[in-house]
Amino acid sequence: MVKLAKDEHEMLEGKHGPAKERAMEILVQYADALGAERFIDTNNVHLFVGFHPYPEMVTVRDGDELASKFLLDTDEKIVVDYVKAFNTTHIFAMDLERWQLMGASESLHELMESIKSYCIRTGISLTSTCTPYQVGNIPTKGEHCAWTESSAVPFCNAVLGARTNTEAAHSAFPIALTGKVPLSGFHLDENRLGDHLVNVEIDVNSVMDWYLLGYYAGERSQLAVPVINLSHEMVPNISMLKGFNAAGASSGGIMMYHVVGVTPEAPTLEAAFGHNKIKETLTYGQKERRQTYETLNCAEDHNVDLVNIGCPHYSLEQLREVTRLLDGKKVQENVTLWIWTAHQLKAIADRNGYTDIILKAGGQLMTDSCPLNTNLFPSGTKVVATDSAKHAHYAPAIAGLGVWFGSMKECIDAAITGKWRGELK
Ligand code: F3S
Repeated sequence: MVKLAKDEHEMLEGKHGPAKERAMEILVQYADALGAERFIDTNNVHLFVGFHPYPEMVTVRDGDELASKFLLDTDEKIVVDYVKAFNTTHIFAMDLERWQLMGASESLHELMESIKSYCIRTGISLTSTCTPYQVGNIPTKGEHCAWTESSAVPFCNAVLGARTNTEAAHSAFPIALTGKVPLSGFHLDENRLGDHLVNVEIDVNSVMDWYLLGYYAGERSQLAVPVINLSHEMVPNISMLKGFNAAGASSGGIMMYHVVGVTPEAPTLEAAFGHNKIKETLTYGQKERRQTYETLNCAEDHNVDLVNIGCPHYSLEQLREVTRLLDGKKVQENVTLWIWTAHQLKAIADRNGYTDIILKAGGQLMTDSCPLNTNLFPSGTKVVATDSAKHAHYAPAIAGLGVWFGSMKECIDAAITGKWRGELK
């Protein structure tokens, strides 16, 4: 049984109001299921509030009732005054401004508007992105957090050296209300050490290559902690690590990893493993790279209906790059080009003139969401081209689409010509 501190007891006894009481009831069960001995404080939660599976089944529009039912698992209407912990929010079910372009219904829009108003009233930050670290949520090394979103979790753990487990909508909300997270999993030193070694024998210098490496490492390591040992000297940038994370969390369940000499807890190979024995040694070379590429490319028809890029949401650097590729070009008439980013970065793109260039070319700069989560693809889409291994992994299963995976440049070429001409070089 989890041991409770005085303030946690008080919350459970209802001395801090009904919201914290219900939140603590949930957290005690959660901590016991995890085998946690106690809670620790957190002031950094990435919430998942703006999306519901099967949203068409949700008829409630009252924000308090919605949160009570879906996030606090009770039919009793609990009114939250103000969420305690600093927080950001994962995506919403739709682009909150361009929802009609996604073909979202009026009713889904109403639901999102109710959630939005609830967030504003209760102190929930409307970041609505899968990349909170790109819009100001950057915890420090060792900071205890509670993040949702599979691609963001390894960023928090491995890239920033902060500490989080993969939280769900139903755990993150009670954690944010109370500022308490069970001390378990990646909050503990011993679980952060590597146990799989991935020797990388080839150069990985592009975002596409880091997606491929991440996909391979995730598939082979599953929930383990892989240690990436590069054979060449290079420092991956944020876009590369973001791609590695998203791919590794899709093909497997990577939540923590190390890149020797790069990530904060792996100055050396020895430090990355600590006292752990290496359970498996893998080699990533040309053969593994090609096999991974072929797994991700499942389309047969070279005619492309949709080019969907920005999964996870594009960084400012990627927006600058894609704008250069599109400047003065025209997207093919029968092709939809969607570029996804956080709305905060779109504001910068607007100011920099990037959005105008994208719109003039016939594309759309979209925010707050992505088509996979609510399966909102342009009608008639059969084949999608993407530069994201995560999107390539899920689109066939979720939407039954044929997928071409390649570089950003190849995706933009597909948008302009309507044909997939990518290849593994
Ligand atoms: Fe983000 Fe959607 Fe991809 S949530 S990581 S753009 S699947």
